[in-house]
Amino acid sequence: MATVLEARHICKNFETSAGTLKVLKDVNLAVDAGESVSVCGASGSGKTTLLQILGGLDAASGGEIFWAGEKITSRGNAFLSKARMRLIGYVFQSYHLVPELTALENVLLAAKIAGTPMRTAKAEALALLEKVGLRERIGHLPVKLSGGECQRVAIARALINRPPLILADEPTGNLDEHSAEAVMQLLLELCEAKGTALVLVTHNGDFAARCRRKLILKDGVLVG
Ligand SMILES: Nc1ncnc2c1ncn2[C@@H]1O[C@H](COP(=O)(O)OP(=O)(O)O)[C@@H](O)[C@H]1O
Ligand SMILES: [Mg+2]
Repeated sequence: MATVLEARHICKNFETSAGTLKVLKDVNLAVDAGESVSVCGASGSGKTTLLQILGGLDAASGGEIFWAGEKITSRGNAFLSKARMRLIGYVFQSYHLVPELTALENVLLAAKIAGTPMRTAKAEALALLEKVGLRERIGHLPVKLSGGECQRVAIARALINRPPLILADEPTGNLDEHSAEAVMQLLLELCEAKGTALVLVTHNGDFAARCRRKLILKDGVLVG
């Protein structure tokens, strides 16, 4: 199996008024195509920090990250944003939808940035929104959607460029039980059907257990 994501000896320090905060001390992780990995850990243990470093949204203080075998550590922003567009779908706990754009337009924006021809992108976006159960909501602005619906739009957006890797930071954290289950099923189904790799940060022990590998972030390291 091809390794989609690898982290070697990642550490991350934050300088605070109270001194140096060592959040990540020695994180090692390799994720293969089609593999689902859950990351649990206490609040403040560094899960979001880790995911942002894995996704190239933040720089580590030490260690190396590889995307599809290519080292991305210390590459510039232009390279990172281009590679991220191709390789990674990022799902945030708080959705991060553009409030002025409809559900469909939010999904299309990601395709536009990636340079996909609009006609192809529109067909794909509609198919994805249908898949996440939002065919009737494509013209809605985020403010007219429930939390679960917003997150499903965000997932469709994360998928539009068919990334081989999804990084999801507590994607069900703000959702009711029913919506959370729908989002979770969708993510796991992608791993099965499309060979997408998934790193899922979650507080939900049941969801974590449904991933192929279950890891815990504790004292700055990932343990099995
Ligand atoms: N930019 C920052 N500057 C200083 N401290 C930070 C910063 N970002 C996160 N932290 C601290 O790092 C720790 C881990 O945060 P975070 O990764 O958000 O944890 P989690 O997602 O596991 O709840 C927390 O103690 C948080 O306060
Ligand atoms: Mg967090």
